[in-house]
Amino acid sequence: MSNVKCQRIAILTSGGDAPGMNAAIRAVVLAAHHYHIEVIGFFHGYNGLICAESISEAKPIGLGHVKSIIHRGGTFLKSARCEQMRTEEGLKKAAETLTEKAIDALVVVGGDGSFTGLLALKNYWQGQLIGIPGTIDNDLDGTDFTIGFATAVNTGIEAIDKIRDTADAFERIFLIELMGRHSGHITFNVGIACGAEKVLSFENFSLAEQQQQLETLAAEIKMAQQNRHSSYIIVIAENLWPGGAFELAKELKELAEIECTACVLGHIQRGGSPVPKDRLLATKMGVAAVQAIVAGENHIMIAEKNSATCYIPLEQAIQHRKVVSKQLIDAQNNILALTAQNQY
Ligand code: F6P
Repeated sequence: MSNVKCQRIAILTSGGDAPGMNAAIRAVVLAAHHYHIEVIGFFHGYNGLICAESISEAKPIGLGHVKSIIHRGGTFLKSARCEQMRTEEGLKKAAETLTEKAIDALVVVGGDGSFTGLLALKNYWQGQLIGIPGTIDNDLDGTDFTIGFATAVNTGIEAIDKIRDTADAFERIFLIELMGRHSGHITFNVGIACGAEKVLSFENFSLAEQQQQLETLAAEIKMAQQNRHSSYIIVIAENLWPGGAFELAKELKELAEIECTACVLGHIQRGGSPVPKDRLLATKMGVAAVQAIVAGENHIMIAEKNSATCYIPLEQAIQHRKVVSKQLIDAQNNILALTAQNQY
């Protein structure tokens, strides 16, 4: 812990934008104002640090800038993925900028890729490095939830509830692909909350025997459909089936004459006004980030565990991908999924 008072915080948003990032920026700016700390916003993720000679990439952010942003999706600081943060040259340049602008602490709102860059900076810059978990994927270890996840789940549910109406009207099978990169948090939560007949994700499905898996899936769909005339919704995690939902639909048709309508929800899940849960989480975390800086903390991610805000070492946050709750996986696999024995 350091006793030197922090005078200037830099903040940026990085990687995939998530609803609630604006709320987090707002909370950081309000908390910094409370503690008489100046805030410099860097635009376009880490690119803003690396190209900061362009004045448009770094600006003081005051209360006026954050007045009406708590309800807006996206991020007014813009975001980007930045390959240069994986290089020594990029890290050195970012560190130089932070030193030149007399920054004492850097706050990054982002996901695991962004925090890998943040942690790498510690070898080049001595200031405080603080992460706020902002990603719809909810895959950061050490926090129950990341900012944006609740909104993405809500968006997925709203979309699938609408699809259900058509699926019921036409007694159709739908195969709906959800985001999450390589994690099934969105897929399981959305699937269960919209009563999907089948959830296919990394946590309950392996591609080791792809052809056999396809045959099993086709047999399950046929069996489940035998005695009922209704809709059948399968949710599938992106990056699970080679070629995605459209390819799987094609293969089910070729193999077993199963007609299923594929639908990829895609980036619709990243946008939109954050739900209350994300606004509140982002606000609590933004305030906690500044308080952590004032307390002299370093190399940490702000987290929430059992409704309490806490700090997790950045190393831990990115070391393992957070796993989906076993309770959710078991409930879906063993009880909720539609089978021949369970014709509700
Ligand atoms: O990490 C957020 C996320 O939306 C993932 O769910 C998805 O795999 C990825 O970003 C998509 O990235 P891009 O917008 O760069 O295509």
